[in-house]
Amino acid sequence: MSDLTYGEQTNRNKLTDHNMSADELVFFVNGKKITEKHADPEMTLLTYLRRKLGLTGTKLGCAEGGCGACTVMLSKYQPHLRRVLHLSVNGCLAPLCSLHHCAVTTVEGIGSVAGKLHPVQERIAKSHGSQCGFCTPGIVMSMYALLRNHPTPRMADIEEAFQGNLCRCTGYRPILEGYKTFTKERKCCGGKGKDNGCCMTNGVKTKGYTDEENVNRTSVLPAPLYDPADFLPLDPTQEIIFPPELMSLCKDQSSQQLRFRGERVLWLQPASLDQLLELKTQYPNAKMVVGNTEVGIEMKFKNLLYPVILAPAYIPELNTIQHTDEGIVFGASCSLTLLGDVLKAATVKLPSYQTEVFTAVLEQLRWFAGLQIRNVAAIGGNIMTASPISDLNPVFMAAGCKLTLMSKGGERVVVMDRKFFPGYRRTILTPEEVLLCVLIPYTKKGQYFAAYKQSPRREDDISIVTSGMSVTFAEGSTVVKHLALSYGGMAATTVMAKNTASRLLGKQWGEELLQDACSSLAEEMTLHPSAPGGMVTYRRTLTLSLFYKFYLTVQQKLANEGAYIEGVRADYVSATEMYHQTSPSSVQIFQAVPDGQKEEDVVGRPMMHLSAMKQATGEAVYCDDIPLYENELYLCLVTSTKAHARIQSIDTSEAESMPGVVTCVFAKDIPGSNKTGPIVYDETVLADGKVTCVGHIIGAVVADTQAHAQRAAKAVRITYQELQPVIITIQDAITHQSFFQPVRTIQSGDLDQGFTQADHILEGEMHMGGQEHFYLETNVTVAVPKGEDGEMELFVSTQSATKTQSLVAKALGVPASRVVIRVKRMGGGFGGKESRSTILSTVVAVAAQKLKRPVRCMLDRDEDMLVTGGRHPFYGRYKVGFMKSGKVVALEVTYYSNAGNSMDLSLSIMERALFHMENSYSIANIRGRGYLCKTHLPSNTAFRGFGGPQGMLIAESWMTDVALSLGLPAEQVRRLNMYIQGERTPYSQILDHITLDRCWDQCLEVSSFNQRRAGVETYNRDHRWTKRGLSVVPTKFGISFTALFLNQAGALAHIYTDGSVLLTHGGTEMGQGLHTKMVQVASRTLGIPSCKIHITETSTNTVPNTSPTAASASSDLNGAAVHNACEILLHRLEPYKTKNPKGCWEEWVNSAYFDRVNLSANGFYKTPDLGYDFETNTGRPFNYFSYGVACSEVEIDCLTGSHKNIHTSIVIDVGNSLNPALDIGQVEGGFMQGVGLYTLEELKYSPEGYLFTRGPGMYKIPSFGDIPTDLTVSLLRDAPNDKAIFSSKAVGEPPLFLAASVFFAIKDAVTAARKESGLSGPFRFDSPATPERIRNACEDRFTKLCPPAEPGTFTPWAVVV
Ligand SMILES: Cc1cc2nc3c(=O)[nH]c(=O)nc-3n(C[C@H](O)[C@H](O)[C@H](O)COP(=O)(O)OP(=O)(O)OC[C@H]3O[C@@H](n4cnc5c(N)ncnc54)[C@H](O)[C@@H]3O)c2cc1C
Ligand code: FES
Ligand code: FES
Repeated sequence: MSDLTYGEQTNRNKLTDHNMSADELVFFVNGKKITEKHADPEMTLLTYLRRKLGLTGTKLGCAEGGCGACTVMLSKYQPHLRRVLHLSVNGCLAPLCSLHHCAVTTVEGIGSVAGKLHPVQERIAKSHGSQCGFCTPGIVMSMYALLRNHPTPRMADIEEAFQGNLCRCTGYRPILEGYKTFTKERKCCGGKGKDNGCCMTNGVKTKGYTDEENVNRTSVLPAPLYDPADFLPLDPTQEIIFPPELMSLCKDQSSQQLRFRGERVLWLQPASLDQLLELKTQYPNAKMVVGNTEVGIEMKFKNLLYPVILAPAYIPELNTIQHTDEGIVFGASCSLTLLGDVLKAATVKLPSYQTEVFTAVLEQLRWFAGLQIRNVAAIGGNIMTASPISDLNPVFMAAGCKLTLMSKGGERVVVMDRKFFPGYRRTILTPEEVLLCVLIPYTKKGQYFAAYKQSPRREDDISIVTSGMSVTFAEGSTVVKHLALSYGGMAATTVMAKNTASRLLGKQWGEELLQDACSSLAEEMTLHPSAPGGMVTYRRTLTLSLFYKFYLTVQQKLANEGAYIEGVRADYVSATEMYHQTSPSSVQIFQAVPDGQKEEDVVGRPMMHLSAMKQATGEAVYCDDIPLYENELYLCLVTSTKAHARIQSIDTSEAESMPGVVTCVFAKDIPGSNKTGPIVYDETVLADGKVTCVGHIIGAVVADTQAHAQRAAKAVRITYQELQPVIITIQDAITHQSFFQPVRTIQSGDLDQGFTQADHILEGEMHMGGQEHFYLETNVTVAVPKGEDGEMELFVSTQSATKTQSLVAKALGVPASRVVIRVKRMGGGFGGKESRSTILSTVVAVAAQKLKRPVRCMLDRDEDMLVTGGRHPFYGRYKVGFMKSGKVVALEVTYYSNAGNSMDLSLSIMERALFHMENSYSIANIRGRGYLCKTHLPSNTAFRGFGGPQGMLIAESWMTDVALSLGLPAEQVRRLNMYIQGERTPYSQILDHITLDRCWDQCLEVSSFNQRRAGVETYNRDHRWTKRGLSVVPTKFGISFTALFLNQAGALAHIYTDGSVLLTHGGTEMGQGLHTKMVQVASRTLGIPSCKIHITETSTNTVPNTSPTAASASSDLNGAAVHNACEILLHRLEPYKTKNPKGCWEEWVNSAYFDRVNLSANGFYKTPDLGYDFETNTGRPFNYFSYGVACSEVEIDCLTGSHKNIHTSIVIDVGNSLNPALDIGQVEGGFMQGVGLYTLEELKYSPEGYLFTRGPGMYKIPSFGDIPTDLTVSLLRDAPNDKAIFSSKAVGEPPLFLAASVFFAIKDAVTAARKESGLSGPFRFDSPATPERIRNACEDRFTKLCPPAEPGTFTPWAVVV
């Protein structure tokens, strides 16, 4: 069918106009009947819930089925089976029109704070599994749907249920831990099962410990983080019932054909096969939609329009399953979940030789999308999408599946072979034909089959290379009679390695065949070095490596079955093993509050995040949940498609003629200044004639609805004159000497002398990729003009209320006093909403001012990823001088960061990288220099760690090189160089109260490091194709804003006459629990229970001139300000307490009120004794340091480059924790974000600066399956910090770097793999350690057959920026 863009669709609409009345859509939401007379085929269930029904508990995180924030439960009655089917589904993809006669349950439907929480909601909240809470409703609903089907699930069921849910804050551990209490394995024992591990102590038996040690470990746990004994029991009989009215409606459904009409699209739902075929003849170009998981993406992101949609989901023939002599026949509309269930049952029932293909399909389904997608996506949809990276098509092709195609003219059966896909996303079906069903055949005796999928992330990810392989041997022999090898990801279609297969016919399954196969595959499965998708060397190597796995697997099966063939070498066997997840276990250790601390004193206790319950019920209000204002409009950005160009013309005529459009906004509409930027004003609010990155904001379209604004924005035509040079990468910037000024340097000692003194000198380099924040809630602003004196109120998801206020005021040309910024909570920030959030807020404010109407914009995920920048990529060059012992005596390091097209916070970020260039090591002679590369990318910005993680990773790289070059254990070299008390940093700060050594020693102990090291060595001796690696890495993180003036905070506390306290402070809540900690501080200071204290929001009209909530310092700064405000109030109340010592709080407050005492106070704090001068290298940049150490063990698959995180132990100094639950949450969440940074997350840019990775489909953050199988987090005991409130320490950023232990454990494993090929010594290993990098570094006979193309001889698809 031809895909239509908006311009083409108007004529086509006429096609659909004749004789078409629309039907009523009837469905139920949370037990309530909804009759929709104007169901729009383009509207998703999510939009309907949020905008039409006001059910904002269900969230929008990505609109592409990749994050699970929109998960709801869909229930359908199946009259023929007389049962109700409950499915978790993605509201963002489910078309509203597909819901006729279905029941939808949303998070609001299962419980509420005011009423009763559902156990699923209660447990995630109480187990501290909700931080920012934006993912929480989706996770709750995935769990709820699981429990509706399996009231006592297995842990594996829970892991499967969460494959389609992402969380960016928690690190997943607490969610799994909380929900483990529902499982068969861990039904709560009420504390009786301590020795065997009890959820009440969170302690579990840890491998590597004796029983006695385990008991001791458990006994150091002072108290649980929560008490499952408090949990409400799950009572399945209390669940809401399927609406009886729907059951009877469903029974009549069979004969009903439905039609729904929208502005541009007609939806037809035939009730019978005949009707479908008739409609397909009438509308040959109509698009069929079953799960909408492909078509939905095309319509939303590829700007395609399908004016007629046929929905065959309920046609019986397309849903039947038939067991035949040849195999099992599945109707094309059968969902992938159903496919899996039926095949699973067959593998149990049938002899294993018959079910080799079934097992292979099941293996592919295990890693196919998430459950929400598999629940709706159809087998036919996967085939007919004809994607070159389909996971099922290679299996179906290698297995020779038969497809039945049907049209009004008749039916034909075709074998799925290489002719079935004649081109990219094309099949041999004629326009009138539909796919009726698929036969998946049984295998025969002597036939062996396997399927493989390699993707960047294991769970819910699309393939890099995927494959189906089948071999049949001549009877009673190991001579190949038939061979089929099919690959996805190697061409524009699924392909067969035809030449290789025929070359191997008649050959014995043995080494000679293997060699032939590999050299033939290397020739046949080639890719152009510029091939779309990139990773060319890796993909080619994978075709060989996967075949090798198949080869060994078949060899092993043949040997096991007694064929005359040598068995697989013991050390090769692990190459044949399919990945199996081990359910994670964890321990958290923290210090209890001292004996005698009053019960109501909550400081130091694991108090639950104050909003957790509301977040779990969907009642917590985020910016876009604010109900629509009457008269409100929606804004969509218009952005540049060129990296460096002059704008020649902007044509808005088509856009302005489109339905609902009110106006367009460009630079000329800005009443104030178009200059903006957080520190220097080197950016524009809206481009002024020139663009300097793809994604540069040029203008905006404002319309009555989001859909109208978005459609019209795509119709704005801009012409450009491209300019040179286009600088995208750090290397480009170095070539063009394109740098922002100044170039920063920190040095101490005498470098020349240091190098002279050194026994050895080595040089090296490393690149570290950037990172997308991927806060689950994208940037959002609602701007409400007040109609007088230029006043405007903005509701913004920002970490910087004050910065937003001043930049909005500047753009509007009004004093800051006229602009109020209000921030209730954010769905995550991580630095991404510190400065870049203002680029949206200012545009929305300008539009609201122009129109004098409220304007809203919540960026779609792809827009957010395109325009807002992320963590700076870094490139480091180093020269290090060291002694034979490993002692480093001289270091020269040069950092280059990719700052993007504006300065933003890049200088401060580089400064922090330099402040952390030696990480935790004392180096007498050192010089670090930092260059900020000015490129044509969107400006990069703050991200948790703020340059520290980049600076320290490069430090650990040269440290590893030193150890490798000396052949010494890395941990020995690290320990030798570690700072000790009283030493001086390169920036002249003396280290006092250092706890690094304690963290190190404890970490080695907790992780059983020595036993673990011995275990790794044994493992590596015994395994050729899988290797383990181990690493222990310290961190020292400086706490304070390095810009002196930011180290201040304010607070405001009001006491009302009923004794309740309203508290405000300068910090914002983004999930980290800052408000909870501030309530704890106020509660202790005032000596009243925390329930009397409330924080509504952060606003610029209550606390002015606030610093951004950043630099981990918010608890320190705001905590001290809150303390100050409370002390002032307490002081004012003192006379009334003295006068009435037996009285209560309310009485003292009342007496003071009637005595005309001011019961409102503001508090203030500035960090004393701070300030550093780069020129003179004097002063103190940091108030104090946070220390931590982590040990990680991993296992890599040398053939595919995958790795699994086996173990991590973290010991971290957070002083006297204000709240151990929140602090552990920060440690685990930060650590997992670091795991993403260093091992998984990769932004891919074209050489022209176009960002490919614009959503969860292509950009992978860690998922549930990525957490270490065994995770111990220990807060260092007895380590009070006299520099912060109640002896606590900052915790937000320091733990992130500890994930470098995983990176260096991977490097350790790669080192072991390289040893097998005779390679030793330092080698360059860049971050992130993706499967591609791991595989390419594990050089072997297969990589040799696929050498990379000569750089410079081709234009790569993506460049390292
Ligand atoms: C988050 C996410 C993750 C994904 N992960 C994977 C993955 O891991 N592996 C993978 O292979 N794919 C993946 N996909 C792609 C997609 O889910 C699958 O291709 C799915 O099987 C499509 O099924 P559907 O019913 O949703 O298709 P729809 O979107 O409803 O339709 C897809 C196409 O099939 C056609 N079609 C459907 N039924 C028929 C029929 N009976 N006759 C003729 N044409 C028909 C439609 O016209 C349309 O062109 C993913 C998609 C998403 C959104
Ligand atoms: S919003 Fe639906 S999956 Fe992300
Ligand atoms: S709590 Fe999961 S994304 Fe924030």
